[in-house]
Amino acid sequence: MKKSKTILDIRELFEKKEKIAVLTAYDYPFARIMDQAGIDIILVGDSAGNVVAGYENTLPVTMEEIIYHTRSVVRGVRHALVVADMPFLSYQADISDARRNAGRLIKEGGAHAVKMEGGSSLQDTIRAIVDMDIPVMGHIGLTPQSVHRMGGYRVQGRSGKESRKIREAAKSVEEAGAFSLVLEGIPASLAAEITDSLAIPTIGIGAGNCCSGQVLVAHDMLGLSEDFSPRFVKKYAGLGETMAQAFKEYVSEVKSGIFPGDEHSFK
Ligand code: KIV
Repeated sequence: MKKSKTILDIRELFEKKEKIAVLTAYDYPFARIMDQAGIDIILVGDSAGNVVAGYENTLPVTMEEIIYHTRSVVRGVRHALVVADMPFLSYQADISDARRNAGRLIKEGGAHAVKMEGGSSLQDTIRAIVDMDIPVMGHIGLTPQSVHRMGGYRVQGRSGKESRKIREAAKSVEEAGAFSLVLEGIPASLAAEITDSLAIPTIGIGAGNCCSGQVLVAHDMLGLSEDFSPRFVKKYAGLGETMAQAFKEYVSEVKSGIFPGDEHSFK
């Protein structure tokens, strides 16, 4: 029986001070396996653009792609809360666009909540979506959709001016009604300070150990991402190497005629 977590369950974990475990997924098998492993939240991230589609950044990802990934993930999930990312240009141009696109991720994708990147300038947009009864997860600090403004994927909030801006952004996302907030690529001390100052859970990625929960991109922590391994990623497996080995063995067995054997053939 399907009994997915709701934002109330996430709130309860936060109030009990139990850390919230979040991973990204983009398809049915990954979602099913991590759901069975007890993950609290699955994020259908626009990082799909990098780790699934092979783009250089997340900017080309479309609504149609996120809806497709979200539907695949939702079919694999029994327990976790599913949050779908709003891709670039699905919420920045105007609020009615943002409302319609957030609604599509719930109605067509089957997500339970949406996530969007941005701080103070996004307050009205977040409020408008929350007013439609769609739970919103905020995302501030190193926001990959702002890669051109940031001049690359750099840690944010190291200067006094930047850290003040990030603190203000956190407050405005909370005031707009977000149920949680991703803090990405900021100093651990700033993330700790923000976490202490908010009444909603923070989910860290490259933001130290004091956040209310942690998120990683599944392909990175499984060792599937080829040439990009930021310092904050802990590799829990080396699946890239395991797969390469299996593929090589298959190629060699097909070429030498070892595969298929009698046991893989019909009489
Ligand atoms: O798209 C994504 O996977 C994300 C996480 C890294 C937070 O936004």
